[in-house]
Amino acid sequence: MLKFFIQTYGCQANVADSQAIANFLVNLDCEQVFTENQADLILINTCAIRDKAEQKIYSYIGRLAKLQKQNSLLKIIIVGCIASYKKQEFYSRFNFITFVNGAREDKNILRDKLIEVVMLSQSSKNVLDIDLKFGGIKQEKKHSTQAFVNIMTGCNNFCTYCIVPFTRGREVSYSSQEILEKIKQDIILGAKEIVLLGQNVNSYKCPKSNINFASLLEAVAELDGEFWIRFVSPHPKDMTLDVIKIMAKYPDKICAFMHLPLQSGSNKILELMNRGYNTEKYLEQVGWVKEYLPHATISTDIIVGFPGETEKDFQDTIDIIKKIKFDNIFSFIFSPRKFTKAILMQDDLSYDQKQARLDFLQKLQVDISRENNEKYLGKILKCLVEKEAVNGMLLARSSGNHTVLFNGNIELIDSFVNINIDKVSATNLVGSLIK
Ligand code: 5AD
Ligand code: SF4
Repeated sequence: MLKFFIQTYGCQANVADSQAIANFLVNLDCEQVFTENQADLILINTCAIRDKAEQKIYSYIGRLAKLQKQNSLLKIIIVGCIASYKKQEFYSRFNFITFVNGAREDKNILRDKLIEVVMLSQSSKNVLDIDLKFGGIKQEKKHSTQAFVNIMTGCNNFCTYCIVPFTRGREVSYSSQEILEKIKQDIILGAKEIVLLGQNVNSYKCPKSNINFASLLEAVAELDGEFWIRFVSPHPKDMTLDVIKIMAKYPDKICAFMHLPLQSGSNKILELMNRGYNTEKYLEQVGWVKEYLPHATISTDIIVGFPGETEKDFQDTIDIIKKIKFDNIFSFIFSPRKFTKAILMQDDLSYDQKQARLDFLQKLQVDISRENNEKYLGKILKCLVEKEAVNGMLLARSSGNHTVLFNGNIELIDSFVNINIDKVSATNLVGSLIK
């Protein structure tokens, strides 16, 4: 039996792709292992979003050279976003790599390669007889608590800092019928959280019907079963009130959580980023969330040090953060990326100045997150138990996407529980199980 290990970097689109590859291999009777040195096949799903991520991946692959020397039969396959544009560089820099397949390439090529690798390792079995759709919906044997479902791929927005439209290509929505079939299957297999994924879920448009994102969300919420739904990410350029109304209509099924990437609080910078909205429009959308979903949490992404960002622009970002009081912020220093427009923009700020802005923002957010979390003290939250935490407690997630730690039996993993919150920090809630 071939043993495979998958290392996934980057966003949830990559997590979804890795899950599809794992399902495919499990259906070919392979076994997923969780350390590299047990594996006959290592897959690395790469992320190109920032240079730091890219360098980290190169050093990880470099470290695999040692393993390859010990086991010359070890196969190493690189997939994902960096593989989209640095294929030759991978082959020449790491001569031990078996195969590279970029995120924009035909998935059948990867499927055929995986079948070939499996056949070579399992000569007794004729896997060519198997007619499986890659990442398909049939016969999946594997299940996990969360099912990541790509409802679309690619992006047409060309935010001037972002490499995604180049690594993943143009936006394509999948058929709503196929999406719903896949989700039904995931629920039958025991998935408790359905995560709908797209770079801009609001622009979802079924190619075969007039189903848009709001109606897709409603159709998923109408499915039978004990599960809840999340989605990432909506884009403020296209966010509409009908999506929020659907969330309010299904409070038990759709998580009270909105990740709405703001990127900057300065209208000048938003325009330079080609984001297609201004802060006034963003604040209106946050107002909708607060009105229709008063218990919802809101998180965002912020880039600091975008070319041309003055002290005043940065202050505008700080002001809007203080005004909205996000529950969580993912914040990054601008990283110039190949192919993008922003790489050519004049950038006068030093890296140290950018780092100082990031530090300031993150320190402020720690206080805001802690203050927001304090509201949950003494409250009971419904949570989905995901796994054991490093400290031996169980890690669960609330509808608002809080990490909730509590003591309990590992048999609770994969189930919904109610937890009374006793303690909070900026990053976690800690509580006790209500029997
Ligand atoms: N530099 C810094 N952050 C970036 N992001 C995307 N591209 C870049 C870049 N070049 C951030 C954005 C996006 C998140 C997924 O990553 O904030 O929302
Ligand atoms: Fe990148 Fe903008 Fe597309 Fe998001 S919407 S993937 S930030 S180009």
